[in-house]
Amino acid sequence: TWTPSNIIDEQVAAIRAQVGDKEVICGLSGGVDSAVAAALVHEAVGDQLTCVFVDHGLLRAGEAEQVEKDYVAATGIKLKVVDAADRFLGALAGVTDPELKRKIIGREFIRVFEAAAREVAAEADVEFLVQGTLYPDVVESGGGTGTANIKSHHNVGGLPEDLQFSLVEPLRTLFKDEVRTLGLALGLPEAMIWRHPFPGPGLAIRIIGAVDRERLAVLRAADLIAREELSAAGLDRGVWQFPVVLLADVRSVGVQGDGRTYGHPVVLRPVSSEDAMTADWSRLPYDVVERISTRITNEVPEVNRVVLDVTSKPPGTIEWE
Ligand code: XMP
Repeated sequence: TWTPSNIIDEQVAAIRAQVGDKEVICGLSGGVDSAVAAALVHEAVGDQLTCVFVDHGLLRAGEAEQVEKDYVAATGIKLKVVDAADRFLGALAGVTDPELKRKIIGREFIRVFEAAAREVAAEADVEFLVQGTLYPDVVESGGGTGTANIKSHHNVGGLPEDLQFSLVEPLRTLFKDEVRTLGLALGLPEAMIWRHPFPGPGLAIRIIGAVDRERLAVLRAADLIAREELSAAGLDRGVWQFPVVLLADVRSVGVQGDGRTYGHPVVLRPVSSEDAMTADWSRLPYDVVERISTRITNEVPEVNRVVLDVTSKPPGTIEWE
């Protein structure tokens, strides 16, 4: 029978058998899959596991802290944090093309992860890399396994030849809802377990225009309000994803307080979906939309207009870039 403790026992035994007394490395993204995969491996082999969290500076409010503090407190995992925000923002400076943003972020990610992996490997003989591959990913990619590189969440190429690892993939037989159940049974932070899917390139592809610290701060503030109000309305699990998008190169005239303003719009993009291949715009209650709009325009001075995206996918994608 499928119970979380059965699956955990089974996976822990399998991981121990595979890994033996060798060292293991795992990249954390802030998402649920890598968090649960790492927690399982930690159950199995404890401090033979070192996790690496590359903070690219493009996560939402509180998410880096969630990994660095709450997750570590919940698991006791050995974590190496690389604060790479300057490097990513430097590489992204002035870039507006969506695919170029993705390429740059993918490239920088693999370089930073590679350097961190080399440091970990210099201290111990690392043979294994954990990946949070789920059953649907296995099916989609034809079921292969073996040595590979970091792909999950980051759409990047691979590690160099001299830095290849064997894969540990403890979620290979599981669906997302099962992974969440395991994560809860393992005592991981609820906010991580119920986190909506979030793109590897992060907020960089939710700023339409060039990315910089000021724009990121504006988007983070607006996004946090949208998330808070969605949660307060009890609708977290009723939507699949809720991107908030900053139209950083667009301005419109508004009136706030005593004067006219010339600020930026943000777009609310709540969607319902089963698998992100197709999606429909979520019919959020108008009072929730209204609270989000009022709070954003009151609390984020750079934003003077909030618009709602009512496009399904297709023809629109979920993200704006
Ligand atoms: P679209 O925008 O194509 O997105 O409808 C489908 C799903 O994929 C996510 N997404 C990404 N995830 N790297 C990722 O890891 C990316 O570059 C990327 N682009 C889109 C998106 O959030 C949605 O869940």
